[in-house]
Amino acid sequence: MKLLVFAGSLRKASLNRKLAKHIARAAEAEGCEVIYLDLNDYPLPVYNGDIEDQGMPENVHRLQELMRNADGFLISTPEYNGAVPAVVKNTLDWMSRKQKNGDSGGQLFQAKVAGICSASPGALGGLRALLLLRDQLAKLGMWVAPTQFALSKASEQFHDDDSLKSDHHERILAVIRSVMSFHKSHQ
Ligand SMILES: Cc1cc2nc3c(=O)[nH]c(=O)nc-3n(C[C@H](O)[C@H](O)[C@H](O)COP(=O)(O)O)c2cc1C
Repeated sequence: MKLLVFAGSLRKASLNRKLAKHIARAAEAEGCEVIYLDLNDYPLPVYNGDIEDQGMPENVHRLQELMRNADGFLISTPEYNGAVPAVVKNTLDWMSRKQKNGDSGGQLFQAKVAGICSASPGALGGLRALLLLRDQLAKLGMWVAPTQFALSKASEQFHDDDSLKSDHHERILAVIRSVMSFHKSHQ
């Protein structure tokens, strides 16, 4: 199974980036082919139909290509004011636009699977953002694994080398395995 793994944060020291990297390593160890995506490498303007009318930004097509080639996504998102950060919504909105080959952007999501995680220094670990991300991905046509993972007090949960301190690994594996099992049963 080919999985695209990314964090919904652009921050260098992002907790979600650390969690996404842990998730990527765990998925690889489970036998998945993993592509780790750093959204900093594909900067996109805030969606504006005028920009699209002038010609689709090249990074939209580059990102769509990555998504088209993936069987599913593993996402770790921050929570901003109880919702997903703008960069996550903006990326999904651009992705939903027409692809270079003329196919609709919606086809990048339909019948694919997503596993969702979050990390926050707070007590809920970004749980509220997960509810909205789940809803958003489902609206795009994805099956979202019922098992999810929110890492609370995340600023205390990583070693200096960015490895995860505590024993959350099993819960993260449960998300990955749920994603893999969906893929297996829908091939
Ligand atoms: C605009 C803004 C709003 C935030 N709102 C929330 C929130 O609703 N819940 C929460 O747990 N943390 C909130 N935070 C704190 C983030 O969880 C924290 O900055 C976290 O480290 C961001 O994720 P990152 O480390 O992956 O960049 C907010 C931070 C910002 C900048």
